[in-house]
Amino acid sequence: MFLIWGIFFSGAQTRDVITLQKEWKFSKGNHPTAIATDFDDSKWEKITVPHDWAIYGPFDEDIDKQTIAIEQNGETSATEKTGRTGALPYIGEAWYRNQFSLPEFNKNKKVLLVFEGAMSEPEVFLNGKKVGEWKYGYSYFYFDITEYINNSDNNLLAVKLNNLGLSSRWYPGAGLYRKVQVIVKDKASIDQWGTFITTPLITSEVAQVNIKTQVSGDNLRLITDILDAEGQVIASNDSETIFGNQFEQNIAVDNPKLWSPETPYLYTAVSKLFSGNELKDQITKRFGIREITYEANAGFSLNGNIRKFKGVCLHHDLGPIGTAVNTSALRRQLRILKDMGCDAIRSSHNMPSIEQLELCDEMGFMFLAESFDEWAKPKVENGYNRFFEDYAEKDIVNLVRATRNHPSIVMWSSGNEVPDQWGTEGVKRAKWLQDIFHREDPTRPVTVGMDQVKATIESGFGALLDVPGLNYRVHLYDEAYEKFPQGFLLGSETASTVSSRGIYKFPVEQGIMKTYNDFQSSSYDLEYCSWSNLPDDDFVLQDDKPWVIGEFVWTGFDYLGEPTPYDDVWPSRSSYFGINDLAGLPKDRFYLYRSRWNTKDETLHILPHWNWEGREGKITPVFVYTSYDSAELFLNGKSLGIQYKNSETHQNRYRLMWMDVIYEPGTLKVVALDKNGNPVASKEVITAGKPYQIILDPDRKTITANGDDLAYVTATVVDKNGIPCPTATNQLQFKVEGKGKFRAACNGDATSLELFHVPTMKLFSGKLVVLVQSTEDAGNIKLIVTGKGLKTGKTSFKSFN
Ligand code: GAL
Repeated sequence: MFLIWGIFFSGAQTRDVITLQKEWKFSKGNHPTAIATDFDDSKWEKITVPHDWAIYGPFDEDIDKQTIAIEQNGETSATEKTGRTGALPYIGEAWYRNQFSLPEFNKNKKVLLVFEGAMSEPEVFLNGKKVGEWKYGYSYFYFDITEYINNSDNNLLAVKLNNLGLSSRWYPGAGLYRKVQVIVKDKASIDQWGTFITTPLITSEVAQVNIKTQVSGDNLRLITDILDAEGQVIASNDSETIFGNQFEQNIAVDNPKLWSPETPYLYTAVSKLFSGNELKDQITKRFGIREITYEANAGFSLNGNIRKFKGVCLHHDLGPIGTAVNTSALRRQLRILKDMGCDAIRSSHNMPSIEQLELCDEMGFMFLAESFDEWAKPKVENGYNRFFEDYAEKDIVNLVRATRNHPSIVMWSSGNEVPDQWGTEGVKRAKWLQDIFHREDPTRPVTVGMDQVKATIESGFGALLDVPGLNYRVHLYDEAYEKFPQGFLLGSETASTVSSRGIYKFPVEQGIMKTYNDFQSSSYDLEYCSWSNLPDDDFVLQDDKPWVIGEFVWTGFDYLGEPTPYDDVWPSRSSYFGINDLAGLPKDRFYLYRSRWNTKDETLHILPHWNWEGREGKITPVFVYTSYDSAELFLNGKSLGIQYKNSETHQNRYRLMWMDVIYEPGTLKVVALDKNGNPVASKEVITAGKPYQIILDPDRKTITANGDDLAYVTATVVDKNGIPCPTATNQLQFKVEGKGKFRAACNGDATSLELFHVPTMKLFSGKLVVLVQSTEDAGNIKLIVTGKGLKTGKTSFKSFN
């Protein structure tokens, strides 16, 4: 890969893949004349793509204020929902322009323009003419632009985007938030998304790798080499027989190494297309060898081993950087989830980024790739229902063709809680969509996340799905299992428990849609919504019902928008559902999931914090989330007794709870016990003194000097003895020196209106995260964090080319 005039070229000499990343011009508003090649855009903002125009705010309660009753939440009268889509300025038109040149363009070439997502309703113009349009902001799509190319040096691309209000239930982002590429190849070449690699037969001795390749041109021959992870060619096939426009190669791989979350082994297929003796095209595809089965009674198996999904649902925004795709931000999320023991992701409720799928292939996560939150019946007035009839098939075809070679994908979803669960038309639509998935990919099953379980039992909607997915409704699992024919159920969406990192409410008790004056939710993890439940209720089903094939928790990380249970109060503007907060910092719940999902490492975590000035003498329960079955708690050296996990209540089964602890400042210590009652591990929480110093903890000490790699630095305020101050709210300032830039900060407070890209922010529960971005120059980077009355925090790292 090399860089010319700010454009990336990559690939073999046979095709050029040009990523249009730099030199974009951007302007909000309506600019119909911007399609003209001589339009003067010198006053427009210069930006790079991926780009999210709305993340820079400001937050405003009037943006997309939705006065509605959210039917799916059981609301019957309309109220004013302020932060439902994040209160960020995503609504309206905006234009992007990019001037690009094409190396080696001549009349034998074919040129494609590929978008991996454009939010939303993109209209695409090249050299003054309209090339085409799409609707759904999450879809991958491409156009053949050969006939619009004037010459190789100077081509003007203009893209108009338009976001309507009332078009989303969460922050959708805005703009060209995913990659845009131009592909220049020979007319005789491999078709876009034309490769389909499957592994229909696997034994320990050999795997059959089946590669179907669609091509254009005459007199063609396809040679495919399979490379192992070290890059050695281990098998090849040379094929001259073409069926219609498709080659089909079957290649034996001896002693195959199987892909799984624990062993994400990847092979590479390099296909070379010849016309006569002339090499015309070459493409490289990574794939995995793995077998998935879904069977009545046995449930889900990967490579012959029955397992249950330990999954999380994720929205596509990346917190403080919004929806602009960033590989290092995605990688960090997956690292955090890996440590938790999570092995699966559901892209709720739309197509995932290609970057996220590539990372899941590499790092080992199974993937449930979803398509829609709406079919023909609306959830929001201007939602996908407007496009369903014309676009649903095209959107699914593109989803499957663009992503089907990712071994991580083990299931498709055609919808989430679609209102079409009601009525016979919906049953037909469910079948129609599932048939499209089957036609495009006969190897993976299809689910729908269903919340109207009774209705879908009655109508046959649930019976026709490959995988019946239940969203919540733990009380209906038994009935659904009995009445649905599949013989297994998926918890396609679970929990929706709400909490704010480091915030604890008293008295400690279960609560549905509980609200407080500070617009936070308690981290004792006992608060949930009218339609949802606590994590432990799902654990019981996962553990006791062999026919439940796993769960996808709502959600792995907090996201912008949908601030339930504070949907109608300002300034709540982001979710409380996350296991991790919007900054990616773990809430207590992280350790509850980790204690059962991470079976390699011990978990021993105490909550709450122990800074309760004013609660002296008051009952302040202590919970321990641990992989051990029992533990003894000590307060200032005095034993408060041993607790054992037991089956009295769902919570008792998975948490150790000392409900009668009387608060006094000092040291709270938990000692975990093994089966014989011997101490095996311990943890302490200590009452902190006054904020004294800022401590910085970067997630990585070296980053790549590519202009978009990110280091995430956690800033914590500690007292004189180095004890974290869990209630500190100091205002901090950030400065980056050397070969890096301040990109954003986030404290995880769902009510904060401070802007992410401004280099100052208040701590929330004693912490926040600063994102430092590399430049394209390698070298030393230093982050300096200051705060009034606090000893300054400094950290340095390096970037490399
Ligand atoms: C589900 C829905 C999600 C989210 C969640 C909040 O019903 O599928 O998108 O809204 O509720 O609990």
